[in-house]
Amino acid sequence: METCQTLPALRAATARLRAAGRRIAIVPTMGALHAGHIALVAAARQHADAVVTSIFVNPLQFNPNEDLSRYPRDEAGDLAKLREAGCDIAWLPGVEVMYPPGAGTTIEVTGPTAGWEGDARPGHFRGVATVCAKLFLQSGADVAAFGEKDWQQLQVVTRMALDLDIPTRILPVPTVREADGLAMSSRNRFLSADERARAPLLIAAMRRAAGTIAGGAPVAEALATETEALAREGFQPDYLALVDGPSLKPLAAIQPGPMRLLAAARLGSVRLLDNIPVG
Ligand code: PAF
Repeated sequence: METCQTLPALRAATARLRAAGRRIAIVPTMGALHAGHIALVAAARQHADAVVTSIFVNPLQFNPNEDLSRYPRDEAGDLAKLREAGCDIAWLPGVEVMYPPGAGTTIEVTGPTAGWEGDARPGHFRGVATVCAKLFLQSGADVAAFGEKDWQQLQVVTRMALDLDIPTRILPVPTVREADGLAMSSRNRFLSADERARAPLLIAAMRRAAGTIAGGAPVAEALATETEALAREGFQPDYLALVDGPSLKPLAAIQPGPMRLLAAARLGSVRLLDNIPVG
């Protein structure tokens, strides 16, 4: 696996791959890699001949209330995992490489950024869209793998690539879960033992809500019941909502098109995020 820290090094490495006729996939990450990220690398490999994985903790997507310095970092461990997963290039830009002094361009996506994480984390999707556009253009990737775990992010990045005519195809990859159902996330390591034991109650509540809604129960009632159940278990639910899959517009009743149940809830100091298909 080649490691690149400068743009000329990345460009030279990807040019060699292209000259050899190899299609390139990128897996954008912020490091602290777990099995969910490795599943992205595996999926990317199935759709391209070479995989670039970026590790960059993007300051632009953290708002002032969020602690960027608390984000977990483990570069040596990450590189070992990527090597084992068969990644071809690790792209490790520093902040000054990604945002050189004087950088003044950001990308504002409307539509799927509205509501949910867009409300909870103002400016977050501007940072995500900007860094993802840069990663696609830096790598010239044919394909980019994103986890369905961050459903809104997946829709925002898809919209952005479409709107800017960036020829990188967005590949959605199903959420990887622990044996007890908890969606894998770099932030799970901040759960205490007691919180970790209770964390799967979130997906359990979501599955119950999805089941009763798909079975014809009134949507608002099903969501309220499970929101209350989570609060009783010590969660601070932010939202539990039925939405249209691609647009993320809230749904008051089931529809024939794709639907998603979204949830965000705080447990201790950790904000858990999850989503599942409905119907
Ligand atoms: O999902 C993430 O880890 C980040 O939002 C991403 C896509 C790597 C952009 O920084």
